[in-house]
Amino acid sequence: GAFFKPIRGAASPSRIKRHTKISVIGAGNVGMAIAQTILTQDLADELVLVDAKPDKLRGEMLDLQHAAAFLPRTKIIASVDYAVTVGSDLCIVTAGARQIPGESRLNLLQRNVSLFRNIIPPLAEHAPEAILVIVSNPVDVLTYVAWKLSGFPSNRVIGSGTNLDSSRFQFLIADHLDVNAQDVQAFIVGEHGDSSVALWSSISVGGVPVLSFLEKQEISYEKETLENIHKAVIDSAYEVISLKGYTSWAIGYSVANLARTLLRDQRKIHPVSVLATGFYGIEGGEVFLSLPAQLGRGGVLGVTNVHLTDEEEHKLRESAKTILEVQDQLHV
Ligand code: NAI
Ligand code: 2OP
Repeated sequence: GAFFKPIRGAASPSRIKRHTKISVIGAGNVGMAIAQTILTQDLADELVLVDAKPDKLRGEMLDLQHAAAFLPRTKIIASVDYAVTVGSDLCIVTAGARQIPGESRLNLLQRNVSLFRNIIPPLAEHAPEAILVIVSNPVDVLTYVAWKLSGFPSNRVIGSGTNLDSSRFQFLIADHLDVNAQDVQAFIVGEHGDSSVALWSSISVGGVPVLSFLEKQEISYEKETLENIHKAVIDSAYEVISLKGYTSWAIGYSVANLARTLLRDQRKIHPVSVLATGFYGIEGGEVFLSLPAQLGRGGVLGVTNVHLTDEEEHKLRESAKTILEVQDQLHV
C-alpha cells in the first residue's frame, strides 16, 4: 500500500498550485551552474536538463538528485529527447561551443548557429508557450537566430545579454568606492562582448547620481579611471577563461536572477538582449542587443526610456552595427 494513507480531496489537481517547469538545454559548465542556482533558490517545481551527451547528462542529473535532502523539493529529469521539455514555462539555452583563450564570442557564430537549427525547432514544438532565454554565444546574434527559428513573438525571446556585464560593472564600481554592489545601479548596454557600452551618466549609488556628486564635491575624477573600469568589464571574461578555461558562477547567478523576475512576474528592469530596432535611433535591420528592459511573466514588458548622452547613443548605434555586420553573413 501507499506509504501515507491519502486524505480524500487533499491532492486534487485544482488545489495544487501552478507547477513551474524550467528546461535547461546544455548540461555543460554554464547549464549546470544555472541549474544548481535555480535549485538552491527554489525557482522551479520541475527542472529538466537536455544535452547531446547521454552519459554526461545522466551523471549530472543523478549528482543533483543526490542533493535532494539539502534542497527545496524539485523534480529533476534529464533526456536527450526534447519531448521532456513539454509544457516548459522557461527554456534556457546554453548548448554550444565556447571560446578558447583569446578567442572572441563572435567567432563562435557558425558552429553554434548549426546547433541551434537542431535545438530551437523541437523546443518551440514541445514548449510553444515558453519564454526562451538564450545564453550560448555570441548571445545577441543567437537570440536573433532563436527568434527566427522559433517563430515566437519577440517579447518571449530574450538574450541574457549584458545582465552579466552589468553585474561585473557593479562589482568593479563597488570595489572602487568600497560600497555594497547591490547599492550600485549601473548599466552596460549593447553587445554582450567587445563593443558593449557603459552608461556612465546613469550610475547611482544608494540613489545618488555618481558623476554629478563628484562634480559638485569638486572631487576630481579622471575619465581615464572610468574608462579603465569599463575596459576591465570587457576583459573580465577573457581573463577568467585564460585562468580557469570557462566562466560559470556569475552567469549562473545572472540567469537565475532573470528566471526569478520572469516567472514570479517581478517587473524588474534588467539589461538584457531584446529586439532593439527602433529604440535610440537603432536602425538598419532587425537586431537584438541589450537595453534596460522591464521583465515579467509575459517576457519583455517594455524598454526603459533612459536618457543617454549623445556619445552613449552613438556608441550604442555602433554596437548595433557591429552585430548587424556579423548577422548579415547568416542565412537563417
Ligand atoms: P561546455 O562545453 O561546458 O558545455 C556545452 C554543452 O553543450 C556540452 O555539454 C555539450 O554536450 C552540449 N551540446 C552541444 N551540442 C548540443 C546539442 N546539439 N544539443 C544539446 N546539447 C548540446 O560549454 P559552457 O562553458 O557551458 O558554455 C556554453 C555556452 O555558453 C558557450 O557558447 C559559451 O560561450 C556561452 N556562455 C555565455 C555566457 C553569456 O554571458 N551569455 C557566459 C558564459 C558562457
Ligand atoms: C562571459 O562573459 C564568456 O560570454 C561569457 O562570461
